[in-house]
Amino acid sequence: MKHLLLIALLGSALPALASDNFDAATFIATKCSGCHDERVYTRPDHRVQNRQQLEAQVRRCDANIGTTLFNEDVAKVVDYLDSHYYHFGQ
Ligand code: HEC
Repeated sequence: MKHLLLIALLGSALPALASDNFDAATFIATKCSGCHDERVYTRPDHRVQNRQQLEAQVRRCDANIGTTLFNEDVAKVVDYLDSHYYHFGQ
């Protein structure tokens, strides 16, 4: 049990160490809610149907608003949207 807890703690700490303070939740709340709120991700006829499409759409919206995310930050935004709204899994 202790080992599991340690692994869980390490698992959540490592990605934070590897990047410079990019927080997907804050980014989405501040930069991505100007045109649509989170309902666009959960509407019954949402357009994105898999991880590839999700990443492509995140890149399109990122390009539109000129936030020029790094690849690793695009991945975090995709992970966040997937785990909170789309649930495609890896
Ligand atoms: C300049 C306006 C604008 C901003 C800002 C914006 N988007 Fe979008 N986004 C759109 C439009 C337009 C659509 C397409 C909506 C539709 O199909 O009806 C869309 C759709 C999406 C979808 C697909 C929704 C679906 O149907 O499954 C995702 C995911 C998405 N945006 C992510 C983002 C992210 C991440 C950001 C922040 C980087 C962002 N958007 C910021 C305009 C914007």
